[in-house]
Amino acid sequence: QVFFKSISNADPPSQTNHHTKISVIGVGNVGMAIAQTILTQDLVDELALVDVNSDKLRGEMLDLQHAAAFLPRTKIVASVDYTVTAGSDLCIVTAGARQNPGESRLNLLQRNLAMYKSIVPELVKYSPECILLIVSNPVDVLTYVAWKSGFPVNRVIGSGTNLDSSRFRFLIADHLDVNAQDVQAYIVGEHGDSSVALWSSISVGGIPVLSFLERQQIAFEKDTLEKIHKQVVQSAYEVINLKGYTSWAIGYSVANLAFSIIRDQRRIHPVSILVKGFYGIDGGDVFLSLPAQLGRSGVLGVTNVHLTDEEIQQLRNSAETILEVQNQLGI
Ligand code: NAI
Ligand code: LAC
Repeated sequence: QVFFKSISNADPPSQTNHHTKISVIGVGNVGMAIAQTILTQDLVDELALVDVNSDKLRGEMLDLQHAAAFLPRTKIVASVDYTVTAGSDLCIVTAGARQNPGESRLNLLQRNLAMYKSIVPELVKYSPECILLIVSNPVDVLTYVAWKSGFPVNRVIGSGTNLDSSRFRFLIADHLDVNAQDVQAYIVGEHGDSSVALWSSISVGGIPVLSFLERQQIAFEKDTLEKIHKQVVQSAYEVINLKGYTSWAIGYSVANLAFSIIRDQRRIHPVSILVKGFYGIDGGDVFLSLPAQLGRSGVLGVTNVHLTDEEIQQLRNSAETILEVQNQLGI
């Protein structure tokens, strides 16, 4: 206590509050966008970074540490050794190959599968009570792979269509000239080409969108709605073609999920969860996105959102797409 004079003889209070810790695996475009957003949110006491590229890993750690004067105090550590993740409350996995321009997410599976089979057991070993948040693509299949590590299903979550739904909300808000935070809209199913837009449940300021559009005399035809969904599905391809990868929106999306989990917000997010048994999906264990309530113990429940018959069929098609790929894995 060189710098401070104590003002009382009482012992300092014992540290009773839980030391919160998040580990981010993979310090590429996505991992670092997530890490820096988490730091600005003053979310945790400790942030651990892991990667196989030791120079990049140390460089990213130092670069973040050098921002300490502008950020809430957070201990930032990094290592190629998974012991650095010990005691994590949440482990976010972004490691792996990303799409080349025009490439589908499902096409990444073979490159990322073996890596996941080695990463996830290491995380489970050092943080057996943590929540796993999977981001690498194909995120729905890799979330299934992570779940096969033996973790309880409520503690294995894929970022899923939380990002797609943000894009959807932006496009609807732009079309209606309202704030995206006042647009409640879900994309569900695969985080990918077979995602499903839940038109029937979109609301703006609590008003169902279709009647909102009618009231505002904003012309819309079904193909306007379909065009917006198509723009969502094309978003990643367009950004990857332009800048080579996507990072900022996924960074905010995953930090938003981390906040809901670590701070036990009990907010509802469209994330990738085990959907077997929902909406007649019974072809096997498959992870897809549905609106789920998230809190400190992970998935607290799945909302009973109404889907039209058409939306249910599209969701089942999404499940079949994923199961087709998954059944070839033999796991
Ligand atoms: P990147 O190439 O910038 O970074 C990947 C990082 O993973 C690299 O630093 C690499 O050294 C590291 N890595 C590779 N193998 C590893 C291993 N075995 N253990 C630890 N680290 C390892 O790629 P980027 O742009 O960050 O994308 C990462 C992943 O995130 C890709 O699969 C991409 O498709 C996915 N992604 C998912 C999104 C979603 O909405 N779910 C959105 C955007 C990207
Ligand atoms: C996305 C891709 C990369 O940004 O998953 O949606």
